[in-house]
Amino acid sequence: MNRRKILSVVGARPQFIKAAPVSKALAARGGLDEVLVHTGQHYDDNMSGAFFEELEIPAPAYQLGIHGGGHGAMTGRMMIALEEVMLREQPHAVLVYGDTNSTLAGALSAAKLRVPIGHVEAGLRSFSQMPEEINRALTDRVSRWLFCPTPGAVDNLAREGMTQGVHFVGDVMYDASLMMRARARASSTILARLGLAAGCFQLATLHRAENTDDRRALARAVRYLDAATREAPVVLPLHPRTRAAVAGFGLALGAIRAVDPVSYLDMTALLDGCSRVLTDSGGLQKEAYFLRKPCVTLRDVTEWHETVEAGWNRLWGNADYRPRQEIAAYGDGHAAEKVIDLLAAEL
Ligand code: UD1
Repeated sequence: MNRRKILSVVGARPQFIKAAPVSKALAARGGLDEVLVHTGQHYDDNMSGAFFEELEIPAPAYQLGIHGGGHGAMTGRMMIALEEVMLREQPHAVLVYGDTNSTLAGALSAAKLRVPIGHVEAGLRSFSQMPEEINRALTDRVSRWLFCPTPGAVDNLAREGMTQGVHFVGDVMYDASLMMRARARASSTILARLGLAAGCFQLATLHRAENTDDRRALARAVRYLDAATREAPVVLPLHPRTRAAVAGFGLALGAIRAVDPVSYLDMTALLDGCSRVLTDSGGLQKEAYFLRKPCVTLRDVTEWHETVEAGWNRLWGNADYRPRQEIAAYGDGHAAEKVIDLLAAEL
């Protein structure tokens, strides 16, 4: 077989985590070459470089250095640069991950050039107007391979008339989480560095636009986390966007313990050691479930309904969890291999 070239587009923190197991599976498979493109959406070392090292992702072949600005400007600048790269590289397929502006830019650039697209984490819906919902729905619409993390995602696509090229493969973040948990237990020192005892603290993250871009919304979220400190200390690795918003709106964090963003290894260790998770992140809601930690989602909707149905996650507007049950919604920890098997068979 002639060698086939896959161009993968990553840019933001959760995409590095998703791309890691897929890159690994791709490298292990004969006949496929990967060209990794980093849009530059996340650029601080603790938001990007550290992830590449720990997750053993090869250095990107292209670093586009595009970040900041409005959503349209950021996505547009990425498209201009990605189109050039795709024209030069002539890939047989493009892989995009999740629902960030980098995802949409990669998908639209490839679609205009008629390069077939594989969307890893296809079919999720929160039924809201969040920027991520726009990104994921449009990306699904132009993708040839829709790699779904859950059976529910397959149903969502079917409701929108998408049944061709739809595959339930499981969640690549589950693959990554399994890979990292053992390593975090063996080598992370974050609990000792922060002086935390396992089981005696809560882990929080807060960065989504709906919570950070409006003073009242951010004040509400901060108040919620501050109130939670009455139960156990709350450790909050602070996204740069949230840090800037807190300062800009003149808010105080009260008893919340803010720390700099942490690497994926350290995040896994914090998750493994905490008593509860409080977050507006999509990824962390799931990772909390993978490690069977109760989670409160600081949002009014979630695209990860299964974690709520399983009784481990609740939206902050709901006082109680549903009864706990085991669900097998996220696959068997080999989602990335399935993605690569399907691509290799069809290219
Ligand atoms: C993006 C994704 C979001 C994902 C999140 C993960 C979109 C629409 N949103 O949101 O779905 O959950 O990534 O973290 O794509 N910044 C820095 N240093 C960095 C990265 C960002 O200072 O390394 C600053 C940026 O300059 C910007 C702000 O943080 O002012 C927000 O960054 P941006 O990439 O626009 O979106 P995220 O909030 O990170």
